[in-house]
Amino acid sequence: MPEEGKPKPGGETTRREAFVKLGVGAACAACAGAAVFGFEFLSPNVLYEPSAVANAGKPDRYPVGSVTQDLKAGIYVIHGPEGFYSLSAVCTHLGCLTVWNADLGIVACPCHGSKFNEHGEKIDGPAPRGLPWLRVWLSDEGDLLVDRSTTVPAKQYLRT
Ligand code: FES
Repeated sequence: MPEEGKPKPGGETTRREAFVKLGVGAACAACAGAAVFGFEFLSPNVLYEPSAVANAGKPDRYPVGSVTQDLKAGIYVIHGPEGFYSLSAVCTHLGCLTVWNADLGIVACPCHGSKFNEHGEKIDGPAPRGLPWLRVWLSDEGDLLVDRSTTVPAKQYLRT
């Protein structure tokens, strides 16, 4: 009968060695799991949001009288005879994204039919108010910047 704890001749594993290896493996797995959960616990739980400032590019992209919708930014850049301004494209009713209808010369909401003129004033529909005017300015590089988080009173034009 072989002695307990001593390796068997011929490289065979004893029952004790098998249990020791199993225990070491289980301890390693537990440590790895604890490390993963510890890392997750210590990592900052931050939600990275895109900047509220949208770069609309050079002003000469926009001919006088143009209404340009930036779907990604959710804004309109309008170059009126008085200067540049920007409107939020988000409907003030329930937040749908409005669209510019060039044929009718209005901003229309596809959800419940609100309509606005090119100055954002409500013409029709359930929207409680017009589309807000957003802050517009020129960057040092000469790009039009629109701050989607800052509204300004209507008729605040940017003259370039
Ligand atoms: S969300 Fe625009 S009319 Fe309702």
